[in-house]
Formats: sequence, C-alpha cells, structure tokens
Amino acid sequence: MCGIVAYTGCKEAYPILIKGLKRLEYRGYDSAGVSIIQGGELATYKQRGSVDQLDEFCMTQNVTGHTGIGHTRWATHGEPSSTNAHPHLSADGRIAIIHNGIIENYLPLRKELTQRGYVFHSETDTEVLVHLIDDIHKNEQCDLAEAVRIALTNVVGAYALAIISADEPDQIILAKKGSPLLIGVGKDEYFIGSDGSPIVEYTRKVVYLEDGDVAVVNPHKKLEIKNINDNVKKRPYLQKLELNLEQLEKGGFEHFMLKEIFEQPRAIKDSMRGRLNVKKDIVALGGIIEYEQKMLNARRFIIVACGTSWHAGIVGEYLFENLVRIPVEVEYASEFRYRNPLIYEDDVVIAISQSGETADTIAAIELAKSKGATVIGICNVVSSTISRITQAGSYTHAGPEIGVASTKAFTAQVTVLALMALSLARKKGTLPLSEYHRIISCLELIPKQVEETLKLNDQIKEIAKFFVNKRNAIYLGRGVNYPVALEGALKLKEISYIHAEGYPAAEMKHGPIALIDEEMPVVVLATEQDTYEKTVSNIQEVISRKGKIISIVTKGDTLVKGMSDFCIEIPETIELLTPLLSSIPLQLLAYHVAVLRGCNVDKPRNLAKSVSVE
Ligand code: AGP
Ligand code: GLU
Repeated sequence: MCGIVAYTGCKEAYPILIKGLKRLEYRGYDSAGVSIIQGGELATYKQRGSVDQLDEFCMTQNVTGHTGIGHTRWATHGEPSSTNAHPHLSADGRIAIIHNGIIENYLPLRKELTQRGYVFHSETDTEVLVHLIDDIHKNEQCDLAEAVRIALTNVVGAYALAIISADEPDQIILAKKGSPLLIGVGKDEYFIGSDGSPIVEYTRKVVYLEDGDVAVVNPHKKLEIKNINDNVKKRPYLQKLELNLEQLEKGGFEHFMLKEIFEQPRAIKDSMRGRLNVKKDIVALGGIIEYEQKMLNARRFIIVACGTSWHAGIVGEYLFENLVRIPVEVEYASEFRYRNPLIYEDDVVIAISQSGETADTIAAIELAKSKGATVIGICNVVSSTISRITQAGSYTHAGPEIGVASTKAFTAQVTVLALMALSLARKKGTLPLSEYHRIISCLELIPKQVEETLKLNDQIKEIAKFFVNKRNAIYLGRGVNYPVALEGALKLKEISYIHAEGYPAAEMKHGPIALIDEEMPVVVLATEQDTYEKTVSNIQEVISRKGKIISIVTKGDTLVKGMSDFCIEIPETIELLTPLLSSIPLQLLAYHVAVLRGCNVDKPRNLAKSVSVE
C-alpha cells in the first residue's frame, strides 16, 4: 500500500502535499514524489528515499502551483528508485498519475501499448495506466475524465488513483477500486488523501469514494462522481471526519498491531491477487516461473527463517510435503549458518523474511548459494536485501508491517507458500485436479473467513482478562496447527511478557504435563482434523490436572467446547489452510492481554522490527 495526497484550490499546493505525505509515510516509505501544475506545465519531482529527503530537494527548487498530486510508495512492481517512484507521466509529459494498488493485467496492457509505440521508463505496473489513458484521450477525442473511465474498464486489479493534466490546470481526476481514497471538501478547494490524516486539519467534511467510483474535483465546479462501468452519475455522500490525527494514522485502531491484524483479509487477498484464478484452475507465481523446473526436480527443500517467519516455514513444510511430496527441512537460519550443514546443488532453499533484512537469514542464504543450491525468497519488502540476493522469489503483498509483532506478514507468508505448493503440485502431478480445485476454492474463501474470524475480537478481549495475572501459558497443536501453537506462544511472550511455550500436543506426556495446575492456562488448537480425537485426549489429560483450557475449535464443535473453560469457534476450512484462520484468535488474544497489562504493544521492550544484526 502507499500514500496518496492531492490538492486543488486557492492555496499553494506543495506545502499541503508534502505535509500530507509525511502523515501518510507509515503507508509506504521507499520513495516519494509530487507533480504540480506550474505556469501551464507539469513540474515533477520524485526520488528514492523518504518524504523528508524529497522535501529537502524540493526546497532547492521553485515549486509553486495550486493543483498537485503527491505519492509515498510501498513498491510492489519495480524496485524502489527515482524512475519507479510516482508520479508517472504520459509521453508528452502533460498528464501525471499516482496509484495505490496492484494492476493485475499490466503485462498484456504494457505489451499492447509498447506495440502502439509507447515507451516505458519504469518497471511499475502503474505506468501502463497513464499511457492507456493518454492513448484513449487522443484516439477517442473525449475529455480526460472520460478517458480515465474508459481506460479503467480495461483494467483488472486494485487502485486508488489521482490524475492531473497541464491542459486542465484546476482539475484532479480520482478513481477507486480496492484501495482507499477520500475527498476533503473545503470552500472552493479540495483535499485528497488515502486516509483522513492529510485532510483533517483543513476540513472535516469528507466523501469516501467507493469501489467503482471515478470523480472529478475542480474548485470552480461541483464535485462530480460517476460509476466507472455504467457512467451513471451518483450523488456525493458527505460525511464528517470524526477521528483525530493520531487515530487516523492507525486507521482508527489504538495500535498499529491491531490495525495490521484487521488488515489481514486485504493482505491475504493482495498476496493472491493476479496469482490465483479458481475459474481457470490457475495458480501462477510469476517470480519463480524460471526456477519452477529446479523446484520440481529438487532433492529437498530447506526453509530458512527466523521467528514468526520460521513458524510460517513449518506450515510450509506441511504444505509442501503433503502436496508436492518432496522432503522439506525447516531450519532456524541462525543455527543453519553455523552448523556446517550438508547442502547439495539439487537442494532448493526457501528463505522467508518479512523485512528481507534479517542478518541470520541473509547469512544462511549466502552459505546455501556458496554450496551451489538454488535460493528462492519470500519477502514483504520489495528490493530488500534478501529479495535481491535470492535467485528468484515471490513477494507477500501485506503492505508495511509497523508493529514489531508480526501478524499480517505471517498469514501472507503462509498464503504464498500455499500458492507455491499448489502450483508445484499441479505441475508435478502429485495432486489430482479435483483435489487441487477443492483446495484453491477453499483458499479463495480465506479472506472472507478471516473477516468472519475477526468478528470474534470482543469475545477474545474478554478471554484475555483470564491471562492478565498469569505467569506462564502453554499452547498445544497437532499437525499443521503445531506451528500455529508456536506462533501463538511467541505472540503472547513477545508483547505481554508472559512466558509461553508452544508444543506438539502429543508432547505433553513427555514432560510439559508436569507444569499443569490450576494456574496454568492451556491454549489448545483443536480444529477438525485427522488427529482431533487425539487432541481431545490431551485436553482430558490437562483437565484431570486442573489445567484451564482455552480452545480454538471449528465452528459447531460441541465436544471440545463442552470441555473448555473458554472456547473460540472459527470457520471451517481444509486442514492444510487452517493456520490462516487459527492464528487470528491467537494474535488477538496476545494483543488484548498485552493491552490489559499496560505493555507497549507496537514497540515491545528489547525487540526491534528487523533484526539486521547478529
Ligand atoms: C515476530 O513477531 C518477531 N517480531 C520476530 O520473530 C520476526 O518474525 C523475526 O525477527 C524475523 O523477521 P523477518 O521475518 O523480518 O526476517
Ligand atoms: N503497484 C504500484 C507500484 O509498485 C503501487 C504500489 C503502492 O500501492 O504503493 O508502484
């Protein structure tokens, strides 16, 4: 995701744009740029780096004008660079566009526009839009707003757009589908933002654009909104912006962590965007296509990662071994790099990292490469170190993860691992089409099911009260829920500072059961799966020693629910995809316990978001 700001009115645009971009920098911060209409021309200033760095540069220029757009980027297509930074310009430099989102069909559009003679300067998906709009504007002899609308009827993907033209100096064209965009309505002026934070100090009268809207703002005219597909005008619905600045940056949530937990439906959806087509039974990960044969012929996969990413890697082990039927080893990168491991040229190493900067994971990659293994990356930050030193990879599209405790990155990583395993299994022939179709149909449903699971937030907030004064907790899970138990324990300990351990449920009798007493909360993942009955036995072992049971079950379960002190029911999905749902209540539980204990949720003591040192 990125930050979009725009302004048109009687004031100087630049100060409003740059201040707004600073407010939106939490949404993306790898590069930034502005375009302003100055004396009938478009002046564009953009570069890699922070908004402050852009501001420093612009201070050396004479940046004036009353209409402009600004963008702070979180790259999805094309590394962070001044060329890939937004705004992107038409061939004659008279139209500028900024974009938040992902254009899924940008490659065929780029190919067609290139054949028509358009020259592309960036690697972004966004640039196809400005040339497509320009092409239609010229050939259809229509006004620019209509050209934008027509262009968008040919576009597949998510977008929030702002477009200006030197030929129409008081106008900004806006469009929205899948990414947020607001219009602040002032007196003869308009303020545009990805959220309310760049707007609230100027006006609290706002219009939230809805999916499928295209709008035109001009200080001398009434705000006009139409539907992209049927071109029908719609009445703007004016609302009052209630939130204060700090709340706005967190999307109205108290902490970034909670905001990011609630962003997971979109993060998972964006991580599947353009990669999963259930109707056509297609799973396609463009970033690994050149190495697919290497992966299909792999002697084994070695997954290297740290922390939460390591837990995602264990879920990946279940996915790959069940679906692709190739052995998988999951290694702590910090151990792998020093234990003189046996690595072969026909090994494929998968390095998982949200930040793409974790020192131990980088070292593990370099070691694997030195032994001739192929290394594939799964990162959340475009052009991060790990994404650059791996031979190929697939990005998670979770957007910036600000909270130190990783949440949406975990489910996005599991999503990409599932897509990878499904794509390989189909090609390897280890998965019958019927089973493949069943799994991808379930995967497509996950974002909606995560939304449903998030509705349990209030119930989980109540359960959290039970943990507030506890000193220990045990998390149990079997099969693909075992790494979820590890992840749930990590979440609790790293933000609430309560000691928690995750275990395979069957391990209880090999020692941990000695810890069970009435003071020990035991969180049990007991969703419907092959080993359900075994887990029920483990629960009985705990109850017989007065342990308290907090269970995560499949909706409709009555047996475990009847045995539990607290029970959380989540939607049903196939066993292998369960971590995408069963991890959500554990994230929320840890969050609410930490808040009740007065901990600094977004910046827990002793922790850093990216462990870029050993
Ligand atoms: C997770 O909540 C932690 N913040 C930490 O374990 C993190 O997952 C680990 O440091 C790995 O980071 P990475 O994914 O950026 O490589
Ligand atoms: N997909 C566009 C790019 O990579 C926009 C990314 C964003 O939303 O920040 O430039």
